[in-house]
Amino acid sequence: MLKLAVLVSGGGTNLQAILDSIRDGRIMNAKVAAVISNNHGAYALERAKQAGVPAVCISPKEYSSRTEFNQALLDAVNSYAVDLIVLAGFLVVLPETMIEQYENRIINIHPSLIPSFCGTGYYGLKVHEAALARGVKVTGATVHFVDKGTDTGPILLQKAVEVEAQDTPETLQRRVMEQAEWKLLPQAVDLIANGRVQVKEGNVIIK
Ligand code: GRF
Repeated sequence: MLKLAVLVSGGGTNLQAILDSIRDGRIMNAKVAAVISNNHGAYALERAKQAGVPAVCISPKEYSSRTEFNQALLDAVNSYAVDLIVLAGFLVVLPETMIEQYENRIINIHPSLIPSFCGTGYYGLKVHEAALARGVKVTGATVHFVDKGTDTGPILLQKAVEVEAQDTPETLQRRVMEQAEWKLLPQAVDLIANGRVQVKEGNVIIK
């Protein structure tokens, strides 16, 4: 049984997709051991509570330094003894110590087809604003393993989504979530939980 810690900062729709997929059997051999947020107001924490999943908030505002916050976040994750960390809309830069300790055991969902519209400053609606400004006809979402860069780790899954003529950043974000993010992240967790993923020399092999 793969134990997950899901790290969140906002509404938690990607967390909900994982919880629903486990409930409905689309994810096998995995359980969410904990939901951890940096934001007390994250509705994702409420979703966790409604699902009976332990939920904690580790807020940077409650620590006197970044170093102390980083250690508290790592201690919180470690306390649940998980196999995989899932970043589901988590907007805090992970401490390097966590990335080292959980090498190839942290995945992130990014709302574009990496390497487009990613890296520092590309998160949430900003990603879709950039895609519309560039005039791309296709965008999508990516699940990738997390390394010490920003959205630079080995790519596990991607799914394309059509951009429509009347799209606003909000309508595009919603379509990317519905058609790509909420499908890819559960699929990625199921693949990992059932031993079908190998990271080799920076590339992902799906068996
Ligand atoms: C979404 O835009 C997602 O693409 C990004 O974080 C945002 C919030 O997602 N990763 P959620 O509803 O909190 O899962």
